[in-house]
Formats: sequence, structure tokens, C-alpha cells
Amino acid sequence: MTMEIRRLTSSPAQTYEIGRELASHLLAGDVVILTGSLGAGKTCLVRGIAAGLGVKGHVSSPTFTILHPHEPGDKRGVPLHHFDVYRLRDADEFVANGFDELITGDVISLIEWGDRVRIALPKEILEIAITYGEKPDERVLALRFPEYRAIVDHGGDNI
Ligand SMILES: Nc1ncnc2c1ncn2[C@@H]1O[C@H](COP(=O)(O)OP(=O)(O)OP(=O)(O)O)[C@@H](O)[C@H]1O
Ligand SMILES: [Mg+2]
Repeated sequence: MTMEIRRLTSSPAQTYEIGRELASHLLAGDVVILTGSLGAGKTCLVRGIAAGLGVKGHVSSPTFTILHPHEPGDKRGVPLHHFDVYRLRDADEFVANGFDELITGDVISLIEWGDRVRIALPKEILEIAITYGEKPDERVLALRFPEYRAIVDHGGDNI
């Protein structure tokens, strides 16, 4: 069964903090897709997750490069593979480029627009769907994950 946690954020800083907190729940081999329209805050959240993992190097928007690999940072020593598949036509192109082989059990993969290549991804993934809230800087983050992961909610602005 899929579980869902929803969080309301009111600023980029708060989204970043949620990412940092989420990082502590991620494991080597995790594939996390980030969905939401242009400018929803996917990269902002990835920056927070990367900070939480302690990865080295600046996390920029990988729009033109598809994949930005990051060396491991914290004591877990897990590299981060940050994808943005917006510019890929479809899942076939993802596979043709060999990206499916870069989602391995040794890395944590975060894939912006990952729903576009869903069929090339493992069955069990985590999803973070970002939608706009009522006010300009509000975003709603819906985190969906398999029940067995038992990701706990630390509170904050739950909705
Ligand atoms: N609560 C919020 N959380 C995250 N970003 C916010 C929030 N409120 C406003 N913003 C703004 O929204 C924009 C989010 O940009 P970001 O690059 O993270 O989006 P994205 O979803 O990765 O876009 P793209 O589809 O182009 O990759 C930034 O300009 C940021 O300042
Ligand atoms: Mg982005």
C-alpha cells in the first residue's frame, strides 16, 4: 500500500528544510521522483535533500545536462544522482542514454519530472508531488511511499 504525507510550505526556505529533514529517511537505492509544474520548487527541495545528505558541490538545476552526479558527503557515503528529465522525449530516450543503469542500489536518485520516465523506473519508488497553495509562496508537498518504509512525520505544518 502507498502511504501519503502532506506538508504545507510557505517559503523556499521552508521547502529546503523539509528536504533536509527528508534526507534522513532516504536509503541507498532509493529512487525519488519529483513532480509538479515549472517553478513548483522541485530543485529547491532537491537542494535541501542534498544538504541533508551532506553532498559536496552546489546543486544547480540540471535542465540542460539531464544528470548531475554528486559525491557522497555524510557518513553514509551514498552518492546522489540528480536528474532532470524535462528535456527527454520519453522513457525510451532515458533508457537509450543509459540513465536507467545509473539508478542503482548504491546511489540515491532524485528525478525531476520523473513521472515522464516512470515506466523505465523500478516498481517501488518514492514520489514527491508539489502543487501550488492558495498564496503565491505556498506549496503543498505530497510525499508518497511504500507502506513498509514507515517514514515518520516529524510534524511541522501538516495538512
Ligand atoms: N514555498 C516555496 N517552495 C519552493 N519554492 C518556492 C516557494 N515559494 C516560492 N518559490 C519560488 O519558486 C521557484 C521554484 O524554483 P525551482 O527551480 O525549485 O522549481 P522547479 O520545480 O525545479 O522548476 P523546473 O520545472 O523549472 O525545474 C523559485 O523561484 C522559488 O523562489
Ligand atoms: Mg528544477
